[in-house]
Amino acid sequence: MIVKDLSFSIFIPESMIQERVWQLGQQINQDYVDRSPLFLPILNGSFIFAADLLRTVNLECRVSFVKHASYQGTASTGQLKTLIGLNESIFNQDIIIVEDIMDTGLTLSKVVEELRSLGTRSVEIITLVRKAPARMHAVQPKYIGFDIENEFVLGYGLDYDGLGRNLKDIYKQVPGETA
Ligand code: IMP
Repeated sequence: MIVKDLSFSIFIPESMIQERVWQLGQQINQDYVDRSPLFLPILNGSFIFAADLLRTVNLECRVSFVKHASYQGTASTGQLKTLIGLNESIFNQDIIIVEDIMDTGLTLSKVVEELRSLGTRSVEIITLVRKAPARMHAVQPKYIGFDIENEFVLGYGLDYDGLGRNLKDIYKQVPGETA
């Protein structure tokens, strides 16, 4: 398959993704029994993963889609600087950040650090895909869909230059092949 100027081949088929998402949902249901977590899916990439995951979760829970702030504003106490779009109170909440893919993990580590400093009860990460470099990072996700090597993937919410998010399967780039 060609997207823009790159070649991709199928990597993780839809059926495998759906099965894994269901398993992750069951783990969350067990781990958070009698709790009411606040899910924070990070836009844009995690919209499909979050939609499927949330339908496997049978807890009382809230969901607030957020974005990385592209710049850091001046500090004003209690205001989140790393994320925009959060309308829910995070004080004393069990937060589950929903990410599509962790590459270096650098962006999320700042988010986690800030959320923890603002009086949350707990902050965990669920990522559908974790790339090899993220395995070295100090901030680790509690839930991981698929561990992959350092390759470029797309589909199921993940994009290449804005394209490919709507694909049902996950594809990986065929190295060295351009269109
Ligand atoms: P990190 O801060 O290096 O972990 O960056 C993670 C972000 O980079 C993800 O949320 C994606 O938006 C993007 N990204 C990293 N690798 C890929 C990939 O293989 N396909 C599509 N997007 C990716």
